Amino acid sequence: MKSDEIRSRFLKFFSARGGSALGGEGHKIIPSASLVPGDPSVLFTTAGMQQFKPYYTNPGNADKDFGSRNIVTVQKCIRTGDIDEVGDATHLTFFEMLGNFSFGGYGRREAITYAYDFITKELGLKISYVTVYKGEGVVPKDEESKNIWKELDSDLEIREDGKDVFWGPTGDSGPCGPTTEIYCKNADGQDVEIWNIVFNEYFCEGSREKLDRGEANLKKLDILGIDTGMGLERLLATVQNKKSVYETDVFNNEKTKDERIIADHIKASLFIIADGVEPSNTGRGYVLRRLIRRAVRFSKEPLTGQIKKIKKVYNGMYALDDKGEIEREENKFRETLERGMKEFEKGIDPFVLATTYGFPIELTLELSKEKNIKVDLEDFNKKMAEHQKLSQTASAGMFKGGLTDAGEETTRLHTATHLLNAALRLVLGNHVTQKGSNITKERLRFDFTHPQKMTEEEKKRVEEIVNDKIAEELPVGFVEMPKIEAEKIAVHSFNEKYGDIVKVYSIGDEKTGYFSKEFCGGPHVSNTSELGKFKILKEEAVAQGVRRIKAVLI
Ligand code: ALA
Repeated sequence: MKSDEIRSRFLKFFSARGGSALGGEGHKIIPSASLVPGDPSVLFTTAGMQQFKPYYTNPGNADKDFGSRNIVTVQKCIRTGDIDEVGDATHLTFFEMLGNFSFGGYGRREAITYAYDFITKELGLKISYVTVYKGEGVVPKDEESKNIWKELDSDLEIREDGKDVFWGPTGDSGPCGPTTEIYCKNADGQDVEIWNIVFNEYFCEGSREKLDRGEANLKKLDILGIDTGMGLERLLATVQNKKSVYETDVFNNEKTKDERIIADHIKASLFIIADGVEPSNTGRGYVLRRLIRRAVRFSKEPLTGQIKKIKKVYNGMYALDDKGEIEREENKFRETLERGMKEFEKGIDPFVLATTYGFPIELTLELSKEKNIKVDLEDFNKKMAEHQKLSQTASAGMFKGGLTDAGEETTRLHTATHLLNAALRLVLGNHVTQKGSNITKERLRFDFTHPQKMTEEEKKRVEEIVNDKIAEELPVGFVEMPKIEAEKIAVHSFNEKYGDIVKVYSIGDEKTGYFSKEFCGGPHVSNTSELGKFKILKEEAVAQGVRRIKAVLI
């Protein structure tokens, strides 16, 4: 059974169900949303439910918008979290998700029975085992799902699990809940997670990271929402009895890990470009640039052949015209690589390679590892830090944080700016990104992304948080690390240029948790107790979607 047939059988299966028992229509077929989501706190669409997030809290709108509470889709998705695993049998950065959704239209029994029928009867597959939620904290064990599975098949193996079978939310808040997953065996006899059936019973007021740290509350939703996701590529591998997703008809039988990484990354790049993103140094464009550059590094051949092959796979299904974008990025990067490689082979210092030839330190590290050469990373870090200091002094005494001089007052205001940035993200959401900063002796000025005017309450809340953190007498410190590592743990403003090694300033400590972690050149006070009282003077618009705060320490 080919991918085309699976997609259409899935849509048909659900459009014929969800109606009669409920006295309404079957599942309504809705097209895939763009990979660029409307939700500003999410970089890419990572799941079928992304476009339906608001309907779990406002189910009545589904009647208005879709004429149905039950929906079925085939959704394009990008996930970069598993990028290091790409090349194995099952992990991809781009994949299609088959999903059925309900906003109060049906519950556990229907959702589980549909999935069971689709897998075992429609596709004739054998389920290896299923998982159910074992219960943790305020969320009870999912006895109901367990009983439904038992009724459907008394021989079925049911495993109980914790965090792994609790899904969501995406972004900075949203619906989430316990799940039940279906595993099938692939041609290698490995158990592969095929389908994740989420019972959205809660709304999490905070990100998943916060939830896992015990810093976010779960509120019960008014309805039980259904959100399911089945990876098309994994399902195909099972249906077509293949050992990996690369042997199915949505790939071209790539054999080596390198070939697989290239195929995956180029595919993801084509889809991202098709949704209007261009390579750049910020946000989505930066992810795209990294995907293309990573593909280049693994490929000795030009990428054209690969691009053609992928377009052919999706011909008639998705329009994937990159208008030469991938090749342009490839050519630029190959030049950098070529120059850098020559110098690397001459044994040039990694610092010179990075600063003069734009040759990334990660690449030097990887190549050196292959050739068994030791790199003195400490020496590199030291030189890089000095280099940054010099270039900062050179740029008219401007520090990265927008300081015009580094006196005592400006240093205090600079640390206050970090507290403000973190507080804004807490109060307004993680879409808040620094757009600019300017500090004089008298006041700080901070520009950031936010779509509307802040309310009086929001301003008050931000002031309170900053003043609380000052009262908590938190230590301020920094570490230096490669940018690529720092990006995983710290906030930074995307419109600033950073070297390959960056300083990450943190406020707080390990014991009580870091309140702020930010890329920054410094300088800062060493404890927030040195700051005094923080007060917002003004909050105003500077451009479409960009707000400005002026604040003082008194
Ligand atoms: N939203 C769920 C997932 O992505 C179905 O696994």
